[in-house]
Amino acid sequence: MTAPSTRRETATKKSLFIKTYGCQMNVYDSDRMAELLAPSGYETVATADGADMIILNTCHIREKATEKVFSELGRMRVLKDEALDNGRHVLIAVAGCVAQAEGQEILDRAPYVDMVFGPQTYHRLPEMVAKASNGERSKRRGARLIDTDFPVESKFDHLPQETTAATSVFLTIQEGCDKFCSFCVVPYTRGAEVSRPATAILDEALRLVRGGAMEITLLGQNVNAYHGDGPDGREWSLGRLIRALAEIDGLERIRYTTSHPRDMDDDLIAAHGEVPQLMPFLHLPVQSGSDRILEAMNRKHDVATYLKLIDRLRAARPDLALSSDFIVGHPGESDADFAETLNLVSRVGFAQAYSFKYSPRPGTPAAAHEQLPEAVRSERLQSLQQLLGAQQRAFNVASIGQTQEVLVERAGQRPGQLLGRGPYMQSVHFEGPDRLFGTIAKVHITEGLGNSLAGRIITAEDASSTTQASYIREEVTR
Ligand code: SAH
Ligand code: SF4
Ligand code: F3S
Repeated sequence: MTAPSTRRETATKKSLFIKTYGCQMNVYDSDRMAELLAPSGYETVATADGADMIILNTCHIREKATEKVFSELGRMRVLKDEALDNGRHVLIAVAGCVAQAEGQEILDRAPYVDMVFGPQTYHRLPEMVAKASNGERSKRRGARLIDTDFPVESKFDHLPQETTAATSVFLTIQEGCDKFCSFCVVPYTRGAEVSRPATAILDEALRLVRGGAMEITLLGQNVNAYHGDGPDGREWSLGRLIRALAEIDGLERIRYTTSHPRDMDDDLIAAHGEVPQLMPFLHLPVQSGSDRILEAMNRKHDVATYLKLIDRLRAARPDLALSSDFIVGHPGESDADFAETLNLVSRVGFAQAYSFKYSPRPGTPAAAHEQLPEAVRSERLQSLQQLLGAQQRAFNVASIGQTQEVLVERAGQRPGQLLGRGPYMQSVHFEGPDRLFGTIAKVHITEGLGNSLAGRIITAEDASSTTQASYIREEVTR
């Protein structure tokens, strides 16, 4: 399929509303869908009311996430029916991981949905929309399309090449997963692990930086398992790729997520100490602090290995801030197992973390086991979140008095307030002029809150990107 790029000027204007659920890879995908539909005249809008097309880009990771989609679809149906009464056709599409996992069920449960397609087929969207629109003209309910293939061709080879970018952007470099943790749907919804070639990534990164991006977060369900073809004919690891990306003039910050403890190799650990653009923050999910449960989860690493890894990372980059994911109440988790999770948290000290109640997912091995009572799961989640919340607050309070470089991304809630992120992923808000958007400002931190920091600007760097790069390097290199 080729993108009908010449139609952009002539196509009739239509509005597109995309609602994104789930992980950052869905955020990346939603942006690509918007770009794919732009040549057909679709302009993205901030609300579903009055939109000509609505895409729900869905997440299947927990039951709650999936249920949200069906309740949202109910609301979309009302909008569609109201529009139809006024002679206007609204196309409704369900994309993402629920579409992949429950495509047929969506069509059965929600007959007003026009299109269902998975995360690996959205590059066919313009064709699907054209077909669905034709169907709409001939039938009241329209043609109903489902595309949940894992196609041979890669969607990445069929995506438009945008020329403008936000200050901080995502770049998917790897997709899918071969690890099959007992609880997880990702290997089923995203498919097998695939790495994009390094050249394609470097090209996309260069385009993003030329288009205005200063920070790139490399994405993958197992981003550090990255092993793409390099331009030198060799297989590149994530460490190698990061070192090449760091050569791009104007790319001030590099981050990556989500990593698996098993795939942190020596070169990647070393990169944390050697590449100044690689920010001192790492999201490294551990899920549990009990070896017994880690084994039941099929994580294939134990607590000692995780702790040793943290030591090595901190040796490479002493100020590295850590984040993690935890699941409480996995089948078989005893009070003693849970106590070990609390123990691990106390030993590591996280700057922030996500924690979830185990949610049985159809078709995954853990779902077939005896489940813990809901009350136990809730109680454990509450005590874990208390501990993690206290650690996050302590980390934020410890930032008071520091001078942080803040990448200014957007306006804050109050007039004159700016919002950005410091090196350790903390949100920082401070008063400042709009001209600081898209620059790195030096901010003196005055307040450490539960989820963010407040500060006062010291100096503003609004010089050329080269100046900013050297400024940053000087600041973060120890
Ligand atoms: N690839 C990442 C995780 C991706 S899913 C990794 O290996 O860690 C994001 C997070 O959702 C997981 O880390 C896990 O904590 C949570 N999660 C996944 N499946 C879940 C389930 N069935 N119930 C509750 N939480 C789950
Ligand atoms: Fe899911 Fe495990 Fe793969 Fe992460 S590593 S995506 S938790 S199966
Ligand atoms: Fe959800 Fe799919 Fe991401 S299940 S977490 S949207 S990979």
